[in-house]
Parts: sequence; C-alpha cells; structure tokens
Amino acid sequence: MTSSLPVVRDVPSLRREVAAWRGSGRTIGLVPTMGALHEGHLSLVRTAKERCDRVITTLFVNPRQFAPHEDFERYPRDEAGDSAMLVAAGCDLLYAPERAVMYPEGFATNVIVSDVSTPLEGEFRPHFFGGVATVVTKLMLQALPDRTYFGEKDYQQLQVVRRMTRDLDIPVTIEGCPTVREADGLAMSSRNAYLSPDQRRVAARLNHIIHDTIKAVHAGAPIEAAEQEAAQHLIAAGFTSVDYVAIRDAETLAPVNDLARPTRILAAAWLGKTRLIDNMAV
Ligand code: PAF
Repeated sequence: MTSSLPVVRDVPSLRREVAAWRGSGRTIGLVPTMGALHEGHLSLVRTAKERCDRVITTLFVNPRQFAPHEDFERYPRDEAGDSAMLVAAGCDLLYAPERAVMYPEGFATNVIVSDVSTPLEGEFRPHFFGGVATVVTKLMLQALPDRTYFGEKDYQQLQVVRRMTRDLDIPVTIEGCPTVREADGLAMSSRNAYLSPDQRRVAARLNHIIHDTIKAVHAGAPIEAAEQEAAQHLIAAGFTSVDYVAIRDAETLAPVNDLARPTRILAAAWLGKTRLIDNMAV
C-alpha cells in the first residue's frame, strides 16, 4: 500500500520541513507545477529525486499568469489524483498554498524580465511571464531548494527563469528537462485534456510539422520562408489559427539568419479554443 503524501499549505510549515532536511545534510529539489499532472511533470519529479535527496512539488494554479479571457477557471484541478501520482514518483512533500498565502492583501510586487520575455509568448500573452517570474521567484524564496526543475515544453519560460535567477542572484540551480511526448509525438500538456478526439488527431501534426521544418532548414531553406511554410502546413492540417512558428537563438530567443549558434524552433497554434505550444532544437 502506498502511503499518502505529506502536504503543507503555508510558508512557516514549508520552511520547518526544509530546515529539518537541511539540518540532516539533505539536498532539496523543487518542482513547480499547476497540478493536473501528467507524465511530463512526473519525469521532472523522478529526475529531481535522482539528483536530490528530497523533492518538493508545488501545486498552485497561479492566477497572475492568466489573462481575464483565458482558462484560469476551467484549468483542470485534481489534488487527490496529483498527490497519489507524486507519491509513486518519489516526491517527499507537496506544497499547495492558497491564493492568500501567495498573494496576501496588499501584495504589490511584480518580477518583470525584459528581452527574453518580450517576443513569442510575450507578444501573444503579455501578462504571462510577469506572472510566472513573480510566482517562481516566490516559490524558490519560500522553499530555498538547491535545484529547481522545469520542462523544456515551455521552452521560453525556462529561458526566462534562467535569466531571472542569474539576474537576481537567487542561489538555486535551474535544470531544464526534455519534453515528454505521447506515442504520436504530441507534447504532453495539462491542456491536452481540452481536445476532442478529432482535435487530438490534428494536434499530433504540430510536432511532425516542426520536424519537417527542421529538415527543410538543414537542407538550405531560408529561415523566414520555412517559418511561413510551416504555418501554412498547420492550417492545412486543421489548426484553427497559428500564433507563430519561429526559429530563434536558443538562449535569447532573438531572430536568427542562420544556424551558426544553437537554434530552437518554437510554435504556438490554436485548435478551437485550445492553444498548443511545442518546440525542438534545430
Ligand atoms: O509551467 C507551469 O506549470 C507554470 O508556469 C509554473 C512554472 C508552475 C508557474 O506557475
């Protein structure tokens, strides 16, 4: 029988657990999540557990990273189910704060990262990285882990968090882990639960078209033409609209003219009311 996962919901309780582990010389890994866990999150927990003695997973659906018209209200929530999966993956503690713990009355601080936050997701979801940077800063300062784990699925988020952690001298190592995919290539995401069976079939095309675009640029296709062609292929495959397909510098996400430096292809497209993102190394 699996035992249940200990849960704390406020900062003093979290810090008591962390202090006890530190007192006995343990290293600590943190996995920030918004719950609705899938294999992608669990792979972060397992990696954290391989590299750290104790693993804390955070569960907080962060209102500050959703715009008013976005899916905050309908975002899937299942703490009991998440908790059972986390025990099996080796997590030691769940930190699930209420909104008032994270954003008490009078909360007035925003962490804004420029440059790497500005293009792509920053253009289409202008509120998003401010919300992410603020909550991730708080979670890391509340737990003070040795390492914090993020999936490469949200590639720009990972670069924003890296930049912010360096800029603010937060004494935590940021680790990015590979995207976990379904058998047909679709990147795992809590939002895949919104897809109808027909949309789910189309969704897998996103990753295939990314692959084809990588092949095309390696074969000499000009970058801008390859991006435009990929967007056309997505629409032809059944996507409702395309926010971007972009080949960018892998660290700064600035536009590139060639593949001289490490380069990443990133895409965001809509299937009905569901927005999917994916990315790969070029
Ligand atoms: O990637 C996510 O699930 C969220 O953006 C994060 C990092 C947990 C912050 O709310």
